[in-house]
Amino acid sequence: MYQMKPEYYTGVDFIDREHTRLFELAQETHELLYDSLLVDKSDKIVELISELINYTRTHFAHEEEYQKSINYPYITQHAAQHRQFEDRLSEIDLSSMSEDYDEQDETVQEILDFLVDWLINHILRVDMTIVKK
Ligand SMILES: [Fe+2]
Repeated sequence: MYQMKPEYYTGVDFIDREHTRLFELAQETHELLYDSLLVDKSDKIVELISELINYTRTHFAHEEEYQKSINYPYITQHAAQHRQFEDRLSEIDLSSMSEDYDEQDETVQEILDFLVDWLINHILRVDMTIVKK
């Protein structure tokens, strides 16, 4: 469902590795969500989605450091997109998640889709400009 595809590769090794990890975390969360054999998986799901959100922030910091190091010309605009997305992510309140398992699953799936859609869009439209001059 969620995975790194050939067209997402920027050619900058560490960026591609970190993007791969983000897709892996999203996939792991998705699989856990649909694992019907596991009862009471809420804690694990919340843990994974928090890790995904935190890893996104770490990845942005790494990417921006790299942009500075190569004097990338669009750093201000690019960082603004990262900040804007971080603001959206911080609006997600995992602690107030519904007690109802179906509702919980729905919320987590929505977060996953929102995060991954943004990521793919950002990689293709914005991250690619780090390498294509
Ligand atoms: Fe980026």
